[in-house]
Amino acid sequence: MKSIDLRKKFFDFFIKRKHSQVPSSSLIPAQDPTLLFANAGMNQFKDVFLGKEKRSYSRAVSIQKCVRAGGKHNDLDNVGFTSRHLTFFEMTGNFSFGDYFKKDAIEFAWEFLTNELKLDKEKLHATVFESDDEAYDIWKDIVKLPESRIHRMGAADNFWQMGDTGPCGPCSEILLDRGEKYGEASPENGERFLEIWNLVFMQFDRQKDGNDMPLDKTGVDTGMGLERVCSIVQNAESVYETDLFMPIIKKIEEVSGLSYDQNEKTKAAFRVLADHTRSTSLIIADGCSPSNEGRGYVLRKIIRRAALFAQKLTDKNIFPELAKVFIGYMSTIYPELKTNEKLILSLLNSEIEKFAANLVRGQAILDRFFEENKSDKIISGQQAFKLYDTYGFPTELTQLIAQEHGCSVDMAGLEKEMEKQKKQSKKKVDAKE
Ligand code: SER
Repeated sequence: MKSIDLRKKFFDFFIKRKHSQVPSSSLIPAQDPTLLFANAGMNQFKDVFLGKEKRSYSRAVSIQKCVRAGGKHNDLDNVGFTSRHLTFFEMTGNFSFGDYFKKDAIEFAWEFLTNELKLDKEKLHATVFESDDEAYDIWKDIVKLPESRIHRMGAADNFWQMGDTGPCGPCSEILLDRGEKYGEASPENGERFLEIWNLVFMQFDRQKDGNDMPLDKTGVDTGMGLERVCSIVQNAESVYETDLFMPIIKKIEEVSGLSYDQNEKTKAAFRVLADHTRSTSLIIADGCSPSNEGRGYVLRKIIRRAALFAQKLTDKNIFPELAKVFIGYMSTIYPELKTNEKLILSLLNSEIEKFAANLVRGQAILDRFFEENKSDKIISGQQAFKLYDTYGFPTELTQLIAQEHGCSVDMAGLEKEMEKQKKQSKKKVDAKE
């Protein structure tokens, strides 16, 4: 099943069950300082859950553009090294605002997965929040899922909150057991037990002091990763081998002359580039530019990480070319890509060119360090600071390269150097005044 058909199936299923189709919001949250980027389908409904805003519908269905590369939900460092983490992904979700609750949410999800997508029932597991007997009993008595496949989990896994404050509640996740090939059979092993759908039962409004105030009306917020489901229905090893990524992967093969399957290192670089092409293009299309703070800095970090991985494959500046391919096949879903094509390509181009010299220099300094310090496994705070301050080399990249060499960075030491510099520059300003 192609991703385009999956999108349609999802919408049709919920529209038939009286949900209003709502378009994705921008990745840049409107008037919400608590959020860097839209990170879940429920963001645009935050005030509806809180009872501060009324809509003409009490059931909604959407496919939301999400970025998880900073703030509370941050997957950036995992991208490239697992089969499932992404900086940009699309979240298919159904919502209830004071309408249905746990029973319908669970039944809808089960019906969609097993009747519409025809997933093998025997391979599906469910998790519930440790004290949520109601959800447990629905899985056991109504869905008739054997108890060996219902798992109670703690708050870290099964209590969802959007940010430090705001709507939150216990959740129930549906996992697909991908088999022995992916290691130990445990719901904590995310590579084997692939989380496909998270059903959140909105019940509270978390306050600044951490207190959970009960909401006037409970709600449902569900989120299923479109890329993950695509990987299942397309029998793909990972999200990257689906039609949502393959045109970019093919283009990288073409321009680098390397094969995606060559070895694990090459594969990781291909994956990082494919992921970062998607997120940076869409973030720019929604109006963000690289800068030194906030959202712009996250965007800059992603582009620089892409530059680091691109140079593992080729000397050419291929990143903008990859964006062009992505814009080509994704504009039917997100026309803002086509409208902003020129801007996307020119921003990516200039950002990568600006960073190129620093990248080469920083990499050379680190290579020399590894050569000269074969037994020393720690890059000192001073060294990392010099790379950052004198050579414009981002600490995240120093950490990443260090990791590849089995080393680490003394982050506490680096923090001290940063503080020292802050004090010194303050002294200089004070002396001038
Ligand atoms: N908000 C929940 C999540 O992001 C479900 O949509 O997982």
